[in-house]
Amino acid sequence: MTISVYDAMHTLKAVRRLRPDPVADDVLERVLHAATCAPTGGNRQPWRVVVVRDREKMRALGDLYAERWRHFVTVYKTVMDALPAAQSEFLSRAIVAGNYLADHFHEVPVLVVFCFDPTQMAITDLGQPRVSVVGGASIYTAVQNLLLACRAEGLGCVLTTLLCEREPEVRALLAIPDAWGTAAAIPIGHPVGRGHGPVTRKPISEMAYADSFGQPLALRAER
Ligand SMILES: Cc1cc2nc3c(=O)[nH]c(=O)nc-3n(C[C@H](O)[C@H](O)[C@H](O)COP(=O)(O)O)c2cc1C
Repeated sequence: MTISVYDAMHTLKAVRRLRPDPVADDVLERVLHAATCAPTGGNRQPWRVVVVRDREKMRALGDLYAERWRHFVTVYKTVMDALPAAQSEFLSRAIVAGNYLADHFHEVPVLVVFCFDPTQMAITDLGQPRVSVVGGASIYTAVQNLLLACRAEGLGCVLTTLLCEREPEVRALLAIPDAWGTAAAIPIGHPVGRGHGPVTRKPISEMAYADSFGQPLALRAER
């Protein structure tokens, strides 16, 4: 069954409960090819992926991930107390699912680790007096393509970045060259339950402006 790109985007929820069953190579090839189709600055494609399936490496990565996840949850629980009920309920559910992923990381069939070479990246905001984000645009386009392709294949997946906090250990485990950084790790597998579903996001009226920042954008429905 094929789904439209809009349906894929509307239902690309984070899926953190994955079955240990393997992912077929032809499916893996399609989702990786989707990643390579992404645009990058100057078409340099300054990223590579390490596709981890080795069980010992997965267990070692899982230990690193679980330690960072537990730390994240401890910090986040204090923030959640101050949030509106609906938001803290959403996060509580995400934490339960995240605990599952942390506990079962070693069983994840495939982990796609995105690496990048900063010397090949067009980073046009380096001179700005704020955190630089443009470099990431040559990596996360590919990450999003991969996620959407997984969604289209009925595979569960979630963009994770906690392993970036343990980059030296991840680099050593996966023989990533010192000059390369890590940008994301995507656990992929068949979902335990229903998997993906409708996403909950802010409406366009809160996200898009007309001509000046903060100005409401009026869009007429075309007939
Ligand atoms: C930059 C980024 C980093 C993220 N890091 C993690 C992570 O380390 N672990 C995790 O479980 N989810 C992670 N997520 C997933 C988000 O928590 C999730 O997309 C968000 O809560 C929305 O959830 P939904 O897509 O299910 O609606 C990350 C997402 C993004 C975009």
